[in-house]
Amino acid sequence: MREKIKSLEELSLYKKQAKKFCVLTAYDFQTAKILDQLEIEFILVGDSLANNFLGLKDTREIGIEEIAYHTRAVSRGAQETIVVADLPFMSYQISQEKTLENIYRLFKAGARAFKIEGYSKELLKLISKVNDLGLPLISHLGFTPQILASQGKAKVQGKNEFQAQELLRQAKELTAAGVKALVLELVPENLAKKITESISIPTIGIGAGRFCDGQILVTEDLLGRNQFRAKFIKNYLNQHEESKIAISSFIREVQTDKFPKEENCF
Ligand code: KIV
Repeated sequence: MREKIKSLEELSLYKKQAKKFCVLTAYDFQTAKILDQLEIEFILVGDSLANNFLGLKDTREIGIEEIAYHTRAVSRGAQETIVVADLPFMSYQISQEKTLENIYRLFKAGARAFKIEGYSKELLKLISKVNDLGLPLISHLGFTPQILASQGKAKVQGKNEFQAQELLRQAKELTAAGVKALVLELVPENLAKKITESISIPTIGIGAGRFCDGQILVTEDLLGRNQFRAKFIKNYLNQHEESKIAISSFIREVQTDKFPKEENCF
């Protein structure tokens, strides 16, 4: 078993050694406990919590309270694994003071690094400030649901030369500002490869092809807990259907007097 990393900087070493790594999401204690026992480099309490766990349509419908609440549950399960919390919509756009307050709130809930979507000059300043405080940040480029969800369906970003150059430039500037890793979501494989080769920090791909330094998936998608199917996802299990089969067995056994049996009684 690979030793768990103690800080995100260790992932840059993985990059140098061409050692691929995995990241998964968790929103609850039990899932975090499973991931904690496996070779997962860090656990993300993503704002995908909104659609995958809370039944909301848009990740922008949740705030710092929900992320902090679920970060606390995940941190109890993740004894050995670094927990990274997403900064939700409007938690880092109002002011630097408010952002630092929100980051500290997630820190107290157990997160030891924070993911922030998008790119702007303002964000570069914020990253430097947070970096000076010794709090690690991860950037997220490509399809960024908080910013682009308003455009409707998730779409591959950076398909034309101008957009591709923009993303590459943003990746370099975010790296220079001090982020420790970069999530690339829904970008063409050749662009993700170029970005990966052009920056010193690790890239973590989701729908970004084979050449990122690491891969991240939403655990709900990997396990088939939801019914979301997309080209960039592999369902390693169909937990939604498996759960229905198991629960139907319970119902049938109760209805036909097969459960509880004598051995289940006191
Ligand atoms: O919120 C989330 O789960 C994410 C991943 C898809 C990277 O941001």
